[in-house]
Amino acid sequence: MSNVTIVTIDGPSGSGKGTLARRIADRLGFHLLDSGALYRLTALAAQKKGVALDDPAVADLAGSLNAHFAADGAAFLDDVCVDDVLRTEQTGALASQIAARPDVRAALLARQKAFAQAPGLVADGRDMGTVVFPDAPAKLFLDASAEVRANRRYKQLIEHGLSANLTALIDEIRVRDDRDRDRAVAPLRPAADALVIDSSDIAIEAVEAQMLEYLRARGIC
Ligand code: DC
Repeated sequence: MSNVTIVTIDGPSGSGKGTLARRIADRLGFHLLDSGALYRLTALAAQKKGVALDDPAVADLAGSLNAHFAADGAAFLDDVCVDDVLRTEQTGALASQIAARPDVRAALLARQKAFAQAPGLVADGRDMGTVVFPDAPAKLFLDASAEVRANRRYKQLIEHGLSANLTALIDEIRVRDDRDRDRAVAPLRPAADALVIDSSDIAIEAVEAQMLEYLRARGIC
């Protein structure tokens, strides 16, 4: 794996890390790991098979997930495109519940590590810099207040012609944050050697510029 450069981008939902991870991966010509999608796909697989989220069989489903991603990032489960349902708040909440289980996390570990292919990987998630790729030479942690993140999500939903309730979104984001930050295994937190960027009051372009400057300083771009 020594000829593979790994950039980790961790942070809470709605911090903009998904968009930035894709932009940085495209710019560097690196592969992309959307690790949240693997937790979401596992939750969908459990739902599809009628397996309860607290059933030990969920870890088996995670380990044998028949999933792949198209070049544009669209996710497929059992060869069916599930991208729309995958990205909903509901699926995110289910993913957050199963992500608190050590057996599910262990079952997804090897699959995540396998994304590390030359010339490099941008890995987006919660524990990329702390657990999955602790030796990565570049670690970023993107944060933003719950209100700002809920507002961004609200605008996205409205733009897509969907109904949304801002107060409910703020509450949902807080519940998911608490669960992701307080869990015993791989809680959401920056690695000790990560650059933390708070994007609450800055535009995505400015965040991207800070990230690129950090990568340049490390000879990565
Ligand atoms: O990034 P996302 O919103 O797609 O992630 C969905 C859920 O999956 C998130 O609430 C927590 C969990 N997750 C995780 O525990 N570890 C990761 N590396 C990525 C996601």
